[in-house]
Amino acid sequence: MIVALVNQKGGVGKTTLALHLAGRWAGKGKRVVVVDADPQGSALDWSEQRAREGVARLFGVLGLPRETLHRELPAIAADADHVIVDGAPRIAGVARSALLAADLVLIPATPSPLDGWASAEMLRLLDEARVFRPGLPARMVLNRCAARTVIAREIAEALAEHDPPVLGARIGQRVIFADAARTGRLAEELDPGCLAAAEIAALAAEIEGLAP
Ligand SMILES: Nc1ncnc2c1ncn2[C@@H]1O[C@H](COP(=O)(O)OP(=O)(O)O)[C@@H](O)[C@H]1O
Ligand SMILES: [Mg+2]
Repeated sequence: MIVALVNQKGGVGKTTLALHLAGRWAGKGKRVVVVDADPQGSALDWSEQRAREGVARLFGVLGLPRETLHRELPAIAADADHVIVDGAPRIAGVARSALLAADLVLIPATPSPLDGWASAEMLRLLDEARVFRPGLPARMVLNRCAARTVIAREIAEALAEHDPPVLGARIGQRVIFADAARTGRLAEELDPGCLAAAEIAALAAEIEGLAP
């Protein structure tokens, strides 16, 4: 399955979730490749930091920040169980390309009530992709959620109606993700019992349940 994590907004958790989903699936014995489609190369940086610290590799990270991604992804997917594309903010061409090849589109967003969860541009790109790929599945993933009690009733009601639909599994605001980014590790490796790891496991399971 090719899963594309895209959002034209930066800082919403595309890279964090791409690496942690990859780690979760790799840990379960799947062959996983992360394609870093962001010219900033944060996923590549993470994997280089990991190598520098002498931590065993769990999955490969390939840097392919280009608009021809869709032509390269099928060959990469042929040798992997899951390919996870870590999208680039702002560059529409790269997101468009990822949407052409993806089996599932995940749009991470931070659930600010003042903010559209998916940017208007992201929704436009998805509509555009569906002209060529009707039925392309897409889901929102709420990241950096405040404590559960703060998810108020009006948000819960909005969730039920949202298009693209919002996954039930949500990721909290957890400092351990920042430590993981800095040290080339996964939250689960830093603290196997942490809430972040449990949330990632639940997210990965929900996504696997959507697999075509
Ligand atoms: N759930 C979270 N809790 C706390 N910090 C997070 C969380 N998700 C992401 N971050 C931090 O927010 C910053 C942006 O996340 P990142 O995954 O790089 O976003 P994007 O790839 O969409 O730009 C990073 O410093 C990351 O460590
Ligand atoms: Mg990123």
